[in-house]
Amino acid sequence: MTRTISLNQVSKSYTRGVRVVERLSLDIRPGEFLVLLGPSGCGKSTVLRMIAGLEDVTEGEIRLDGEYANDLPPSARDMAMVFQNFALYPNMTSRDNIGFPLRIENPGGDPRPRVDATARRLGIEDLLGRFPAQLSGGERQRVAMGRAIARHPSAFLMDEPLSNLDAKLRNHLRAEISSLTRDLGVTTVYVTHDQSEAMSLGDRVAVLRGGVLQQLAGPRAVYRLPENVFVAAFIGTPRINLLRGTVRAPLDGAMSISLGRQYLRLPEPLSSDHQLLRVQQGREVIVGLRSEAVRIASPAAARPREVAISGLVAHVEFQGHEVLVHFNTGSRPAVVPELEAPRPARPVRRRRRDGGVLDRLRERTGTLRAGPVVVLEHPTDEGPDPEEPRSEAPRLPGDLVVRTTPDMALRPGMHVPLLVDLAHLFVFDRSGQRVCPAPQYLPGLDE
Ligand SMILES: Nc1ncnc2c1ncn2[C@@H]1O[C@H](COP(=O)(O)OP(=O)(O)OP(=O)(O)O)[C@@H](O)[C@H]1O
Ligand SMILES: [Mg+2]
Repeated sequence: MTRTISLNQVSKSYTRGVRVVERLSLDIRPGEFLVLLGPSGCGKSTVLRMIAGLEDVTEGEIRLDGEYANDLPPSARDMAMVFQNFALYPNMTSRDNIGFPLRIENPGGDPRPRVDATARRLGIEDLLGRFPAQLSGGERQRVAMGRAIARHPSAFLMDEPLSNLDAKLRNHLRAEISSLTRDLGVTTVYVTHDQSEAMSLGDRVAVLRGGVLQQLAGPRAVYRLPENVFVAAFIGTPRINLLRGTVRAPLDGAMSISLGRQYLRLPEPLSSDHQLLRVQQGREVIVGLRSEAVRIASPAAARPREVAISGLVAHVEFQGHEVLVHFNTGSRPAVVPELEAPRPARPVRRRRRDGGVLDRLRERTGTLRAGPVVVLEHPTDEGPDPEEPRSEAPRLPGDLVVRTTPDMALRPGMHVPLLVDLAHLFVFDRSGQRVCPAPQYLPGLDE
Protein backbone atom coordinates (compact mmCIF):
# COMPACT_ATOMS: atom_id res chain seq x y z
CA MET A 1 0.00 0.00 0.00
CA THR A 2 2.79 2.40 0.88
CA ARG A 3 4.69 3.92 -1.97
CA THR A 4 8.10 4.65 -3.28
CA ILE A 5 8.04 7.95 -5.17
CA SER A 6 11.04 8.59 -7.40
CA LEU A 7 11.85 11.67 -9.40
CA ASN A 8 14.62 11.25 -11.89
CA GLN A 9 16.10 14.44 -13.39
CA VAL A 10 12.68 16.08 -13.42
CA SER A 11 12.41 19.56 -14.94
CA LYS A 12 9.43 21.81 -15.42
CA SER A 13 8.88 24.79 -17.73
CA TYR A 14 5.63 26.70 -17.89
CA THR A 15 7.04 29.10 -20.46
CA ARG A 16 9.53 27.97 -23.09
CA GLY A 17 13.05 28.51 -21.85
CA VAL A 18 12.10 29.27 -18.23
CA ARG A 19 12.70 26.32 -15.97
CA VAL A 20 11.05 26.59 -12.58
CA VAL A 21 12.27 23.12 -11.56
CA GLU A 22 15.68 22.04 -12.73
CA ARG A 23 16.73 18.37 -13.01
CA LEU A 24 15.40 17.33 -9.63
CA SER A 25 16.14 13.81 -8.46
CA LEU A 26 14.54 12.45 -5.27
CA ASP A 27 13.95 8.93 -4.01
CA ILE A 28 11.21 9.00 -1.43
CA ARG A 29 11.06 5.78 0.56
CA PRO A 30 7.94 3.87 1.57
CA GLY A 31 6.48 5.41 4.72
CA GLU A 32 8.93 8.29 4.67
CA PHE A 33 7.96 11.84 5.66
CA LEU A 34 9.82 14.04 3.20
CA VAL A 35 9.65 17.82 3.46
CA LEU A 36 10.20 20.12 0.47
CA LEU A 37 11.54 23.34 1.95
CA GLY A 38 12.44 26.62 0.29
CA PRO A 39 11.52 30.28 -0.08
CA SER A 40 8.45 31.48 -1.95
CA GLY A 41 8.56 30.78 -5.67
CA CYS A 42 11.30 28.13 -5.52
CA GLY A 43 9.07 25.49 -7.13
CA LYS A 44 7.78 23.48 -4.15
CA SER A 45 4.12 23.41 -5.19
CA THR A 46 5.11 22.68 -8.77
CA VAL A 47 7.04 19.58 -7.65
CA LEU A 48 4.13 18.42 -5.53
CA ARG A 49 1.65 18.95 -8.38
CA MET A 50 3.85 16.95 -10.74
CA ILE A 51 3.91 14.08 -8.23
CA ALA A 52 0.12 14.29 -7.97
CA GLY A 53 -0.21 14.25 -11.77
CA LEU A 54 -1.85 17.70 -11.84
CA GLU A 55 1.04 19.19 -13.80
CA ASP A 56 2.91 17.71 -16.78
CA VAL A 57 6.55 16.82 -16.41
CA THR A 58 8.57 18.73 -19.03
CA GLU A 59 11.64 16.51 -18.83
CA GLY A 60 12.71 13.53 -16.75
CA GLU A 61 10.57 10.85 -15.20
CA ILE A 62 8.43 10.13 -12.18
CA ARG A 63 8.19 6.54 -10.97
CA LEU A 64 5.69 5.22 -8.45
CA ASP A 65 6.77 1.92 -6.91
CA GLY A 66 9.28 1.68 -9.73
CA GLU A 67 6.66 2.03 -12.51
CA TYR A 68 6.92 4.86 -15.03
CA ALA A 69 4.12 7.25 -14.07
CA ASN A 70 4.56 10.46 -16.08
CA ASP A 71 1.32 9.85 -17.97
CA LEU A 72 -0.70 8.32 -15.16
CA PRO A 73 -3.86 10.38 -14.47
CA PRO A 74 -4.20 11.78 -10.93
CA SER A 75 -7.11 9.48 -10.10
CA ALA A 76 -4.97 6.41 -10.81
CA ARG A 77 -2.24 7.52 -8.39
CA ASP A 78 -4.20 6.96 -5.17
CA MET A 79 -2.74 10.02 -3.47
CA ALA A 80 -4.53 12.45 -1.20
CA MET A 81 -3.57 16.07 -1.57
CA VAL A 82 -4.11 18.98 0.78
CA PHE A 83 -3.67 22.15 -1.23
CA GLN A 84 -2.20 25.46 -0.24
CA ASN A 85 -5.48 27.01 -1.37
CA PHE A 86 -7.76 24.21 -0.30
CA ALA A 87 -11.27 23.95 -1.70
CA LEU A 88 -14.27 22.43 0.03
CA TYR A 89 -17.62 21.68 -1.57
CA PRO A 90 -19.65 24.72 -0.49
CA ASN A 91 -22.98 22.91 -0.51
CA MET A 92 -21.82 20.10 1.79
CA THR A 93 -21.37 20.06 5.56
CA SER A 94 -17.97 19.32 7.03
CA ARG A 95 -19.13 15.76 7.68
CA ASP A 96 -20.08 15.27 4.02
CA ASN A 97 -16.92 16.96 2.81
CA ILE A 98 -14.76 14.62 4.86
CA GLY A 99 -16.86 11.58 3.98
CA PHE A 100 -17.06 12.36 0.27
CA PRO A 101 -13.93 10.47 -0.86
CA LEU A 102 -14.93 7.54 1.37
CA ARG A 103 -18.31 7.33 -0.32
CA ILE A 104 -16.67 7.41 -3.77
CA GLU A 105 -14.24 4.70 -2.75
CA ASN A 106 -16.82 2.46 -1.13
CA PRO A 107 -20.38 3.46 -2.16
CA GLY A 108 -22.06 0.83 0.03
CA GLY A 109 -20.06 1.52 3.21
CA ASP A 110 -20.82 3.75 6.17
CA PRO A 111 -18.32 6.59 6.31
CA ARG A 112 -19.40 7.76 9.80
CA PRO A 113 -16.87 5.91 11.98
CA ARG A 114 -13.93 7.04 9.87
CA VAL A 115 -15.24 10.63 9.69
CA ASP A 116 -15.77 10.74 13.47
CA ALA A 117 -12.32 9.34 14.20
CA THR A 118 -10.72 11.82 11.83
CA ALA A 119 -12.64 14.76 13.29
CA ARG A 120 -11.52 13.75 16.78
CA ARG A 121 -7.88 13.74 15.76
CA LEU A 122 -8.23 17.19 14.21
CA GLY A 123 -10.36 18.68 16.99
CA ILE A 124 -13.29 19.53 14.71
CA GLU A 125 -16.06 17.26 16.08
CA ASP A 126 -18.19 20.33 16.84
CA LEU A 127 -17.92 21.60 13.29
CA LEU A 128 -19.18 18.53 11.44
CA GLY A 129 -22.67 19.93 10.92
CA ARG A 130 -21.55 23.28 9.50
CA PHE A 131 -21.13 24.39 5.91
CA PRO A 132 -17.82 25.87 4.70
CA ALA A 133 -19.25 29.40 4.67
CA GLN A 134 -19.88 29.03 8.42
CA LEU A 135 -16.23 28.19 9.18
CA SER A 136 -13.16 30.32 9.73
CA GLY A 137 -10.18 29.93 7.38
CA GLY A 138 -8.31 27.77 9.87
CA GLU A 139 -11.36 25.58 10.49
CA ARG A 140 -11.86 25.08 6.77
CA GLN A 141 -8.24 24.09 6.47
CA ARG A 142 -8.70 21.42 9.12
CA VAL A 143 -11.78 20.08 7.36
CA ALA A 144 -9.79 19.93 4.11
CA MET A 145 -7.07 18.07 5.98
CA GLY A 146 -9.71 15.71 7.33
CA ARG A 147 -10.95 14.99 3.85
CA ALA A 148 -7.44 13.98 2.80
CA ILE A 149 -6.66 11.79 5.78
CA ALA A 150 -10.04 10.09 6.35
CA ARG A 151 -9.39 7.91 3.34
CA HIS A 152 -6.17 6.02 3.83
CA PRO A 153 -4.37 6.70 0.57
CA SER A 154 -1.01 5.39 -0.64
CA ALA A 155 0.57 8.79 -0.22
CA PHE A 156 -0.22 12.16 1.30
CA LEU A 157 0.82 15.27 -0.57
CA MET A 158 0.49 18.34 1.61
CA ASP A 159 1.09 21.88 0.42
CA GLU A 160 1.53 24.25 3.37
CA PRO A 161 -1.55 22.81 5.07
CA LEU A 162 -0.99 24.74 8.29
CA SER A 163 -0.36 28.18 6.88
CA ASN A 164 -3.74 29.68 7.87
CA LEU A 165 -3.62 28.58 11.48
CA ASP A 166 -2.57 30.40 14.61
CA ALA A 167 0.61 29.29 16.34
CA LYS A 168 -1.07 27.11 18.98
CA LEU A 169 -3.24 25.22 16.52
CA ARG A 170 -0.33 24.89 14.14
CA ASN A 171 1.78 23.20 16.81
CA HIS A 172 -1.08 20.92 17.76
CA LEU A 173 -1.79 19.88 14.17
CA ARG A 174 1.88 19.53 13.39
CA ALA A 175 2.16 16.89 16.10
CA GLU A 176 -1.08 15.30 14.92
CA ILE A 177 0.07 15.07 11.29
CA SER A 178 3.35 13.59 12.39
CA SER A 179 1.80 10.87 14.55
CA LEU A 180 -0.98 10.15 12.07
CA THR A 181 1.28 9.64 9.07
CA ARG A 182 3.61 7.52 11.17
CA ASP A 183 0.75 5.41 12.56
CA LEU A 184 -0.53 4.81 9.06
CA GLY A 185 2.97 4.37 7.62
CA VAL A 186 1.90 6.36 4.58
CA THR A 187 4.54 8.05 2.42
CA THR A 188 4.13 11.80 2.83
CA VAL A 189 5.52 14.72 0.86
CA TYR A 190 5.02 17.95 2.76
CA VAL A 191 5.70 21.42 1.36
CA THR A 192 6.59 24.35 3.57
CA HIS A 193 8.69 27.50 3.61
CA ASP A 194 8.92 27.32 7.40
CA GLN A 195 12.22 25.79 8.38
CA SER A 196 11.17 24.97 11.94
CA GLU A 197 8.17 23.05 10.60
CA ALA A 198 10.46 21.18 8.21
CA MET A 199 12.92 20.34 10.96
CA SER A 200 10.28 19.10 13.38
CA LEU A 201 8.30 17.01 10.87
CA GLY A 202 10.67 15.61 8.30
CA ASP A 203 12.50 12.31 8.25
CA ARG A 204 14.46 14.07 5.52
CA VAL A 205 14.36 17.62 4.23
CA ALA A 206 14.93 18.58 0.58
CA VAL A 207 16.00 22.22 0.41
CA LEU A 208 15.12 23.92 -2.89
CA ARG A 209 16.33 27.21 -4.25
CA GLY A 210 15.28 28.58 -7.63
CA GLY A 211 14.02 25.13 -8.65
CA VAL A 212 17.38 23.51 -7.89
CA LEU A 213 17.91 20.98 -5.08
CA GLN A 214 20.50 22.32 -2.63
CA GLN A 215 20.61 19.49 -0.14
CA LEU A 216 18.67 16.37 0.77
CA ALA A 217 19.36 15.07 4.25
CA GLY A 218 17.92 14.49 7.70
CA PRO A 219 17.07 17.58 9.80
CA ARG A 220 20.14 17.18 11.99
CA ALA A 221 22.44 16.92 9.01
CA VAL A 222 21.06 19.97 7.19
CA TYR A 223 21.57 21.97 10.37
CA ARG A 224 24.99 20.61 11.34
CA LEU A 225 26.47 20.10 7.88
CA PRO A 226 24.77 22.52 5.47
CA GLU A 227 26.29 22.02 2.04
CA ASN A 228 26.25 25.68 1.14
CA VAL A 229 25.62 29.15 2.48
CA PHE A 230 22.01 29.15 1.34
CA VAL A 231 21.11 26.04 3.37
CA ALA A 232 23.10 27.34 6.35
CA ALA A 233 21.26 30.65 6.26
CA PHE A 234 17.81 29.19 5.56
CA ILE A 235 17.89 26.74 8.45
CA GLY A 236 18.14 27.75 12.10
CA THR A 237 16.97 30.72 14.18
CA PRO A 238 18.38 33.20 14.79
CA ARG A 239 19.92 33.14 11.35
CA ILE A 240 23.54 32.01 11.18
CA ASN A 241 26.03 34.90 11.22
CA LEU A 242 27.82 35.10 7.88
CA LEU A 243 30.95 37.23 7.89
CA ARG A 244 33.40 37.90 5.12
CA GLY A 245 36.90 36.78 6.00
CA THR A 246 40.30 35.97 4.54
CA VAL A 247 42.34 32.88 5.35
CA ARG A 248 45.87 33.65 6.51
CA ALA A 249 48.19 30.64 6.48
CA PRO A 250 51.81 31.78 6.79
CA LEU A 251 54.29 28.92 6.42
CA ASP A 252 55.97 29.73 9.72
CA GLY A 253 53.10 31.05 11.80
CA ALA A 254 49.69 30.22 13.18
CA MET A 255 46.76 29.99 10.81
CA SER A 256 43.99 32.51 11.22
CA ILE A 257 40.94 33.93 9.51
CA SER A 258 40.92 37.68 9.30
CA LEU A 259 37.49 39.27 9.78
CA GLY A 260 38.28 42.83 8.84
CA ARG A 261 39.38 44.46 12.08
CA GLN A 262 39.70 41.26 14.13
CA TYR A 263 40.81 37.72 13.45
CA LEU A 264 40.12 34.17 14.58
CA ARG A 265 43.35 32.39 15.38
CA LEU A 266 42.90 28.68 14.70
CA PRO A 267 44.06 26.68 17.75
CA GLU A 268 47.06 24.37 17.48
CA PRO A 269 47.32 21.53 16.81
CA LEU A 270 45.07 22.22 13.84
CA SER A 271 42.10 19.92 13.44
CA SER A 272 42.00 18.08 10.11
CA ASP A 273 39.18 20.37 8.95
CA HIS A 274 41.20 23.47 9.81
CA GLN A 275 44.28 22.03 8.10
CA LEU A 276 42.29 21.71 4.91
CA LEU A 277 41.60 25.45 5.03
CA ARG A 278 45.24 26.01 4.11
CA VAL A 279 44.35 25.74 0.42
CA GLN A 280 42.16 28.83 0.85
CA GLN A 281 45.25 30.87 1.84
CA GLY A 282 44.83 34.50 0.80
CA ARG A 283 41.32 33.91 -0.54
CA GLU A 284 38.16 35.53 0.57
CA VAL A 285 35.82 33.13 2.38
CA ILE A 286 32.56 33.33 4.27
CA VAL A 287 32.68 32.47 7.95
CA GLY A 288 29.49 31.01 9.40
CA LEU A 289 28.89 31.25 13.15
CA ARG A 290 25.63 30.01 14.59
CA SER A 291 24.50 31.67 17.79
CA GLU A 292 25.68 28.68 19.86
CA ALA A 293 29.22 29.24 18.55
CA VAL A 294 29.59 32.63 20.26
CA ARG A 295 29.15 33.58 23.90
CA ILE A 296 29.69 36.68 25.96
CA ALA A 297 32.63 35.97 28.29
CA SER A 298 36.09 37.30 29.01
CA PRO A 299 39.21 35.76 27.43
CA ALA A 300 40.17 34.31 30.82
CA ALA A 301 37.09 32.06 30.70
CA ALA A 302 38.06 30.55 27.34
CA ARG A 303 37.80 26.78 27.06
CA PRO A 304 40.03 24.83 24.71
CA ARG A 305 39.14 25.69 21.07
CA GLU A 306 37.53 29.00 22.06
CA VAL A 307 39.15 32.20 20.83
CA ALA A 308 38.53 35.76 21.98
CA ILE A 309 37.19 38.66 19.93
CA SER A 310 35.19 41.67 21.02
CA GLY A 311 32.11 43.50 19.86
CA LEU A 312 30.39 46.83 20.27
CA VAL A 313 26.71 46.46 21.19
CA ALA A 314 24.62 47.98 18.37
CA HIS A 315 21.17 46.84 19.30
CA VAL A 316 19.51 44.64 21.92
CA GLU A 317 16.47 42.60 20.95
CA PHE A 318 14.39 41.36 23.87
CA GLN A 319 12.62 38.06 23.16
CA GLY A 320 11.27 37.12 26.58
CA HIS A 321 13.14 33.92 27.41
CA GLU A 322 16.31 35.21 25.79
CA VAL A 323 17.93 38.30 24.36
CA LEU A 324 19.55 38.68 20.94
CA VAL A 325 22.45 41.10 21.04
CA HIS A 326 23.55 42.62 17.73
CA PHE A 327 27.24 43.46 17.80
CA ASN A 328 29.54 45.36 15.54
CA THR A 329 32.82 43.50 15.28
CA GLY A 330 34.24 45.45 12.36
CA SER A 331 33.56 42.71 9.82
CA ARG A 332 31.30 42.81 6.80
CA PRO A 333 28.35 40.45 6.46
CA ALA A 334 27.93 38.29 3.34
CA VAL A 335 24.57 38.63 1.59
CA VAL A 336 22.33 35.69 0.65
CA PRO A 337 20.06 37.38 -1.90
CA GLU A 338 16.74 35.57 -1.38
CA LEU A 339 16.91 35.67 2.37
CA GLU A 340 17.51 39.36 2.94
CA ALA A 341 14.77 41.48 4.40
CA PRO A 342 14.30 44.68 2.42
CA ARG A 343 16.92 47.03 3.78
CA PRO A 344 15.96 50.45 4.99
CA ALA A 345 19.36 51.63 3.77
CA ARG A 346 19.78 54.38 1.20
CA PRO A 347 18.30 53.76 -2.24
CA VAL A 348 20.51 51.78 -4.56
CA ARG A 349 21.46 53.69 -7.67
CA ARG A 350 20.75 51.66 -10.76
CA ARG A 351 23.75 50.91 -12.86
CA ARG A 352 23.46 50.42 -16.58
CA ARG A 353 23.85 46.77 -17.25
CA ASP A 354 26.35 45.66 -19.83
CA GLY A 355 24.76 43.91 -22.73
CA GLY A 356 21.22 45.07 -21.86
CA VAL A 357 18.94 42.87 -23.92
CA LEU A 358 21.29 39.91 -23.82
CA ASP A 359 21.43 39.98 -20.05
CA ARG A 360 17.69 40.26 -19.77
CA LEU A 361 17.30 37.27 -22.08
CA ARG A 362 19.80 35.29 -20.07
CA GLU A 363 17.94 36.06 -16.90
CA ARG A 364 15.00 34.12 -18.24
CA THR A 365 16.85 30.82 -18.33
CA GLY A 366 16.65 28.49 -15.38
CA THR A 367 20.30 28.57 -14.44
CA LEU A 368 20.40 32.32 -14.05
CA ARG A 369 17.05 32.29 -12.32
CA ALA A 370 18.82 30.69 -9.38
CA GLY A 371 21.80 33.09 -9.53
CA PRO A 372 24.78 32.86 -7.19
CA VAL A 373 24.16 31.43 -3.72
CA VAL A 374 25.96 34.28 -2.05
CA VAL A 375 26.84 37.79 -3.07
CA LEU A 376 29.98 39.31 -1.67
CA GLU A 377 29.54 42.67 -3.27
CA HIS A 378 26.67 44.61 -1.80
CA PRO A 379 25.52 48.05 -2.94
CA THR A 380 26.31 49.42 0.50
CA ASP A 381 29.94 48.34 -0.01
CA GLU A 382 30.47 50.83 -2.81
CA GLY A 383 31.57 53.65 -0.57
CA PRO A 384 29.80 56.90 0.09
CA ASP A 385 27.12 58.03 -2.31
CA PRO A 386 27.96 61.60 -3.30
CA GLU A 387 24.29 62.37 -3.96
CA GLU A 388 23.26 61.47 -0.47
CA PRO A 389 23.81 63.83 2.45
CA ARG A 390 25.71 62.00 5.20
CA SER A 391 23.61 61.41 8.24
CA GLU A 392 25.12 62.51 11.54
CA ALA A 393 25.10 59.23 13.43
CA PRO A 394 24.56 56.23 11.15
CA ARG A 395 22.71 53.47 13.00
CA LEU A 396 24.71 50.36 12.26
CA PRO A 397 22.65 47.18 12.30
CA GLY A 398 25.49 45.03 13.66
CA ASP A 399 27.27 42.18 11.94
CA LEU A 400 27.11 39.47 14.63
CA VAL A 401 24.07 38.31 16.57
CA VAL A 402 24.65 36.55 19.89
CA ARG A 403 22.05 34.94 22.11
CA THR A 404 22.13 35.56 25.81
CA THR A 405 19.95 35.42 28.91
CA PRO A 406 17.61 38.33 29.71
CA ASP A 407 19.39 39.05 33.00
CA MET A 408 22.49 40.36 31.26
CA ALA A 409 22.27 44.15 31.25
CA LEU A 410 23.67 45.28 27.92
CA ARG A 411 23.20 48.66 26.34
CA PRO A 412 24.11 50.00 22.89
CA GLY A 413 27.63 51.40 22.86
CA MET A 414 29.06 48.91 25.38
CA HIS A 415 32.25 47.13 24.42
CA VAL A 416 31.93 43.43 25.24
CA PRO A 417 34.36 40.48 25.16
CA LEU A 418 33.22 37.47 23.13
CA LEU A 419 34.41 33.88 22.83
CA VAL A 420 34.06 32.02 19.56
CA ASP A 421 33.96 28.22 19.75
CA LEU A 422 35.89 27.03 16.74
CA ALA A 423 34.48 23.53 17.06
CA HIS A 424 31.33 25.11 15.59
CA LEU A 425 33.05 27.09 12.84
CA PHE A 426 31.69 26.93 9.30
CA VAL A 427 33.70 28.21 6.37
CA PHE A 428 32.29 28.57 2.84
CA ASP A 429 34.26 29.42 -0.27
CA ARG A 430 33.53 32.42 -2.47
CA SER A 431 30.88 30.54 -4.39
CA GLY A 432 29.12 29.62 -1.15
CA GLN A 433 30.09 25.92 -0.96
CA ARG A 434 31.06 24.60 2.46
CA VAL A 435 34.79 23.92 2.85
CA CYS A 436 34.87 23.54 6.67
CA PRO A 437 33.81 21.10 8.05
CA ALA A 438 35.23 19.39 4.98
CA PRO A 439 32.51 18.22 2.59
CA GLN A 440 32.62 14.50 3.21
CA TYR A 441 30.52 11.85 4.82
CA LEU A 442 30.78 12.07 8.59
CA PRO A 443 29.64 9.03 10.55
CA GLY A 444 27.20 9.48 13.40
CA LEU A 445 24.81 11.80 11.59
CA ASP A 446 21.57 10.72 10.03
CA GLU A 447 22.06 10.56 6.27
N1 LIG B 1 0.82 28.07 -14.10
C1 LIG B 1 1.96 28.75 -14.09
N2 LIG B 1 2.41 29.43 -15.16
C2 LIG B 1 3.58 30.10 -15.18
N3 LIG B 1 4.42 30.16 -14.13
C3 LIG B 1 4.04 29.51 -13.01
C4 LIG B 1 2.81 28.78 -12.93
N4 LIG B 1 2.73 28.25 -11.69
C5 LIG B 1 3.84 28.63 -11.03
N5 LIG B 1 4.64 29.37 -11.82
C6 LIG B 1 5.96 29.94 -11.46
O1 LIG B 1 6.80 28.87 -11.09
C7 LIG B 1 7.62 29.22 -10.00
C8 LIG B 1 7.42 28.21 -8.89
O2 LIG B 1 6.11 28.32 -8.41
P1 LIG B 1 5.57 27.43 -7.21
O3 LIG B 1 4.13 27.71 -7.05
O4 LIG B 1 5.97 26.01 -7.44
O5 LIG B 1 6.42 28.03 -6.00
P2 LIG B 1 6.35 27.70 -4.45
O6 LIG B 1 7.72 27.29 -4.05
O7 LIG B 1 5.24 26.75 -4.17
O8 LIG B 1 6.07 29.12 -3.81
P3 LIG B 1 5.10 29.55 -2.55
O9 LIG B 1 5.89 29.23 -1.30
O10 LIG B 1 4.95 31.02 -2.73
O11 LIG B 1 3.82 28.79 -2.65
C9 LIG B 1 7.24 30.63 -9.61
O12 LIG B 1 8.19 31.49 -10.17
C10 LIG B 1 5.88 30.82 -10.23
O13 LIG B 1 5.69 32.16 -10.59
MG1 LIG C 1 3.42 26.94 -3.19
